[in-house]
Amino acid sequence: MSEKSFLSSKLLFYTITISTLLFIISSLFFLQRNESSFTSNLVHKLRTEEVKQTHVSSCNRNQDVLKVFMYDLPSEFHFGLLGSKIWPNVKNISSIPSYPGGLNRQHSVEYWLTLDLLASEISGIKRPCNVVRVKNSVEADVVFVPFFSSLSYNRKSKLRGNETISVDRLLQERLVEFLKIQEEWKRFDGRDHLIVAHHPNSLLYARNSLGSAMFVLSDFGRYTSAVANVEKDIIAPYLHVVKTVACNESASFDMRHVLAYFQGAIYRKDGGTIRQELYNLLKDEKDVHFAFGTVKGNGTKQTGKGMASSKFCLNIAGDTPSSNRLFDSIVSHCVPVIISDHIELPFEDTLDYSGFSVFVHSSEAVKKGFLVNLLRGVSEDQWKKKLERLKEVVECFEYQFPSRPGDSVDMIWSAVSHKLSSLQLNVHRKNRYRRSETYDRNRSS
Ligand SMILES: *[C@@H]1O[C@H](CO)[C@@H](O)[C@H](O)[C@H]1NC(C)=O
Ligand SMILES: *[C@@H]1O[C@H](CO)[C@@H](O)[C@H](O)[C@H]1NC(C)=O
Ligand SMILES: *[C@@H]1O[C@H](CO)[C@@H](O)[C@H](O)[C@H]1NC(C)=O
Ligand SMILES: *[C@@H]1O[C@H](CO)[C@@H](O)[C@H](O)[C@H]1NC(C)=O
Repeated sequence: MSEKSFLSSKLLFYTITISTLLFIISSLFFLQRNESSFTSNLVHKLRTEEVKQTHVSSCNRNQDVLKVFMYDLPSEFHFGLLGSKIWPNVKNISSIPSYPGGLNRQHSVEYWLTLDLLASEISGIKRPCNVVRVKNSVEADVVFVPFFSSLSYNRKSKLRGNETISVDRLLQERLVEFLKIQEEWKRFDGRDHLIVAHHPNSLLYARNSLGSAMFVLSDFGRYTSAVANVEKDIIAPYLHVVKTVACNESASFDMRHVLAYFQGAIYRKDGGTIRQELYNLLKDEKDVHFAFGTVKGNGTKQTGKGMASSKFCLNIAGDTPSSNRLFDSIVSHCVPVIISDHIELPFEDTLDYSGFSVFVHSSEAVKKGFLVNLLRGVSEDQWKKKLERLKEVVECFEYQFPSRPGDSVDMIWSAVSHKLSSLQLNVHRKNRYRRSETYDRNRSS
């Protein structure tokens, strides 16, 4: 073979190879386009997780951020419960209706997430750019349902006047009716829907019918594992009720004369009997504050002070596995001692709680002398290490508007992003036979 013909056959070989490759790539691309864009968005998102740490003032829709479609529900499902007939103009912060105070606030997750989505559409609001609202549901990774279910429970679950069914229940029934006929819901049987139900009693009537969705909850205590579980749902912190201690103002080890602090209700149904047992064990220890009473009015201030001047704060299972007490102790810089075997913790996909908390099995905690000996045995250095770590994570437990990088709102959206791959797996598994079902339908029609 001459040099020239060798070259030209080589050229031919390359041309064929390249065009074959091009053909394969283009057909892959074509297949990809035909697949739901939901799926391809998911794949896309998981690869470029890092981008989310960037902090820009207006979000670039083409950038790789979590894309959320939000239903335009009538105001009675959300801001109507705060007396506003329209979506707030989030550009003017003083015009946003505030969430009611007191213990209502601890479940205000719904409010902060909704505000953040509204803000994501407006340039000039400085917030982390990890999520953006999209108007076309086909582009969306998840679908957000703006129902203020906790507020609805707190405000509207009691019968008034001649009502025979509560407004809270009516709203839930209407929500189920609405969702079940939406194309967005039908697409994946609601699996890509995000519903906030932070108060343990919220969404009581609708939770079973909407159980395929992703819930944002405080814990799983009042749910069956089929309706809510750690695989599909997200645990969000309570909004703390005591004031956050500034990082440069937390008391030193020596200044904290109380070894362990607990203030709360003593009698609790469902698994809360351990509080009584611990009370009996600890009530005579001089350096332990163990008192009963609810956090109201003056009490909140007292509790904040008490926690901030204690080395450890006890978080003992009550009638639900979780309570705002854990978050109060974190923002008070009081090292949490968690005695609640069935607790699920917010953001455990990123946070290692053992770095700033102490976990104790209930069965051990009720042994005479076990708890005080364990806590007295923690050296100043070991305690300081936990305190330093605690100060680093406090921001994860703050809700605010506008949201800031690493705060609760930002962390919840990250947790949603982390769920996408298992969501995708489940959608694919459920879809295995979708095509054959369509054939059957076509044949019989
Ligand atoms: C912002 O809202 C407040 C309260 O509703 C109102 O008084 C004020 O005029 C608004 N500011 C602007 C610039 O629209
Ligand atoms: C309930 O009371 C309101 C007035 O408070 C009235 O407008 C309404 O018609 C009553 N509904 C029924 C079913 O009696
Ligand atoms: C802590 O820092 C703030 C400002 O960040 C300052 O106003 C305050 O005085 C400081 N407190 C102490 C005890 O240094
Ligand atoms: C509030 O706390 C103070 C002590 O800090 C106490 O003297 C006062 O009586 C309390 N007020 C109420 C209404 O409980």
